[in-house]
Amino acid sequence: MRTSFQIISVVGARPQFIKLAPLTKGLSRRYRHVIVHTGQHYDDNMSDVFFQQLEIPAADINLHVGGGRHGAMTGRMLTKLERVFVDRKPDMVLIYGDTNSTLAGALAAAKLGIPVGHVEAGLRSFVDNMPEEINRRVADQLSQLLFCPTTVSINNLKAEGVRKGIVRSGDLMYELLANSRSLIKKNKAFLSQHGLTPNDFVLLTLHRAANVDSEQNLLRILDILGDLGTNVLFPIHPRTRHRFRKFRLLKTLLNIDHVKVVEPMGYLDTLSAAFYARAVMTDSGGLQKEAVFLQTPVLTLRNETEWLETLKMGNRLVGLSKHSIIEGIRSLPKVSKVDHRVRDKKPSSIIVEELARFLRGK
Ligand code: UD1
Repeated sequence: MRTSFQIISVVGARPQFIKLAPLTKGLSRRYRHVIVHTGQHYDDNMSDVFFQQLEIPAADINLHVGGGRHGAMTGRMLTKLERVFVDRKPDMVLIYGDTNSTLAGALAAAKLGIPVGHVEAGLRSFVDNMPEEINRRVADQLSQLLFCPTTVSINNLKAEGVRKGIVRSGDLMYELLANSRSLIKKNKAFLSQHGLTPNDFVLLTLHRAANVDSEQNLLRILDILGDLGTNVLFPIHPRTRHRFRKFRLLKTLLNIDHVKVVEPMGYLDTLSAAFYARAVMTDSGGLQKEAVFLQTPVLTLRNETEWLETLKMGNRLVGLSKHSIIEGIRSLPKVSKVDHRVRDKKPSSIIVEELARFLRGK
């Protein structure tokens, strides 16, 4: 039964579209659900393709705030979101993950006294200057409902003294993947399109500021890729392409024969590539987890992870260490079945129900 409560979801970047997708049906069945796209990701293959493939209703409002430095970007989002919230008077604002759009949504709503629900709350890398860590700490502090995907995330919040509003929701990304599994397996066209055969390539993604913003790191990445000794499919994030271009290293990257650099891929192609790859190398939080869910070994190109549970399931932290990466590819981590605690919930229904309970009690 639909209530008259209005919920605004604020999204703006790829991983947020993925988390929103499993929720949209339940939210619009029960509430007046309004989707606000900040415009943080704006290229078709970073945004529209996700809405289409994941059947997310078109955003009701697009703020067209993309690009620029973090402060300026967040500031412009804040100004525009405040206007939308004052205009629409939502009963609740839902924010997702840890991007600048998450932070702006949390701040704009909290300043107006609108309750905030944080989807994927409680994750921590404990790297104080990581942009996402700053965003998620502030977002969690400002949220009344904290939808936690894992036990570790719940414990992180408790350790910070949070006592109210914690909900064990389970993992929406797992729910979406489980519902898409047969499509993911059937989707093979991209393999022949890129001249690849199953189990004969590694899927690589890279976009973290800490990895791609310095020339030194890009040189290191080129050195590692040159000596990797395996085919690589590398859908390149616009940030990473900009950096390679800025340091005049793009040509060198494109000239490595066994590395196939392609445009960013949509949800289905990315997940199928992770499924058919012999391994995934990534600095993405979402993809390291999705690879494990698909039982593909992962080398995570960071020194820490917010998803500690995955370290027991086939994820190995290798940073940008050439030795660890080359060794890791030679002797890949063993994958194990996904922990039942990740599988045993239906996060979207839990979130929709908890929102109802909260709004009734307001
Ligand atoms: C953002 C998130 C990160 C998330 C990632 C997923 C923050 C701080 N970071 O990082 O947590 O993992 O999204 O991809 O919010 N650009 C384009 N076209 C686009 C999108 C971006 O050209 O469609 C360019 C921007 O102009 C900018 C650069 O890529 O120069 C970086 O984009 P930005 O949104 O600032 O951060 P991401 O690196 O994508």
